[in-house]
Amino acid sequence: MTDPLIDSLERALAEREAAGLGRRRRVVESRAGPRAVVDGRELVSFAGNDYLGLAGEPSLAEAAAVAARRWGVGATASHLLCGHYAAHEALEREIAEWVAPCAGARAVTFSTGYLANLAIVSALADRETEVFADRLNHACLNDGALLARSRLVRYAHGDAGALARRLASSDAPRKLIATDAVFSMDGDVAPLVALAALAQAHDAWLVVDDAHGFGVLGGGRGTLAELGVASPRIVLMGTLGKAAGVAGAFVAAHPAVVETIVQTARPYLFTTASPPMLAETLRASLVLVRADAWRRERLARHVARFRAGAADLPWRLGDSRTPIQPLVVGDAIEATRLSQALERRGVFVPAIRPPTVPEGTSRLRVSLSAAHRDDDVDALLRALAEAARDSR
Ligand SMILES: Cc1ncc(COP(=O)(O)O)c(C=O)c1O
Repeated sequence: MTDPLIDSLERALAEREAAGLGRRRRVVESRAGPRAVVDGRELVSFAGNDYLGLAGEPSLAEAAAVAARRWGVGATASHLLCGHYAAHEALEREIAEWVAPCAGARAVTFSTGYLANLAIVSALADRETEVFADRLNHACLNDGALLARSRLVRYAHGDAGALARRLASSDAPRKLIATDAVFSMDGDVAPLVALAALAQAHDAWLVVDDAHGFGVLGGGRGTLAELGVASPRIVLMGTLGKAAGVAGAFVAAHPAVVETIVQTARPYLFTTASPPMLAETLRASLVLVRADAWRRERLARHVARFRAGAADLPWRLGDSRTPIQPLVVGDAIEATRLSQALERRGVFVPAIRPPTVPEGTSRLRVSLSAAHRDDDVDALLRALAEAARDSR
């Protein structure tokens, strides 16, 4: 006997698959790092966001083991019950002092960046608020607006002029501008100087999601620090599972903003705190993020090497100076084929398709890491050149 509810799901899944939009979880059987055993085969991976090569760093694995013995493995409850440990408190203090998006900033940590963005937007916005979002923002900023029941107004990607026009024509009593600092699928940088000026002129909050700039730009302090932008109206989110190599996220902002999140944000209140052993591991990771400038230098060399080698490929290379290097193929099925062709040559670069990127802009998202060697980048370029030859 068939069940009509199950049937409808199965039909929808089959349609996704036929449109080249099916997704498959790849099983990794090796330690985090650029040489990964994926579904039983060793590949050079350009798929992760381990920009500084810290996820597999032996000294951090040791710090985690020591922290687990000291704190145990679970936080047992939310931060407001009894899940807020001295390790979280110390981590928050150290992050706030370092990233400082405004004078006297405070920080609060989360178990994921997704939750952090939900918390920021839902704490600062409500039904009366208009949330102005770059069209290519990460999905979780938009989901924050949904949770807050705010009106979402999207503006053309990276276009401060378009945002200015939308702000000028808004009569909402409260306004919030939300942007990725480094766009996750394009690698380009938001015009944060102009956005901060607009936030000032229109009495709006400016929420900056620096998931991909933290640890990489501004000597590791992130994109705002690199561009010299600071303001009590800026709410900075950074993730700790990418360049910092561990897991979690922080929000750093004026103490009144942070206290509002702690007091009122449902994604903060109604979830178990991240284990204190991870907070302690992150403290050790942040020492390396700050001190190991060589990791950023090596990463910058890989970016330059890749861009020089990829300039003549038949796919459009996005205008990015960050470790995120998109090769835009267009069609979802074509992008998947290219990804498979690379994999046959021992290189793992996933195809990114709608809804993660807009229709018609499916791409390979090459993500570089300080843990790559020069010959890894060369192997990628060789595989791309061969795939280009075969596709002619
Ligand atoms: C721009 C951006 N913001 C937020 C997130 C969510 O962070 P997390 O993976 O820690 O939930 C991601 C990636 O996952 C991201 O790319």
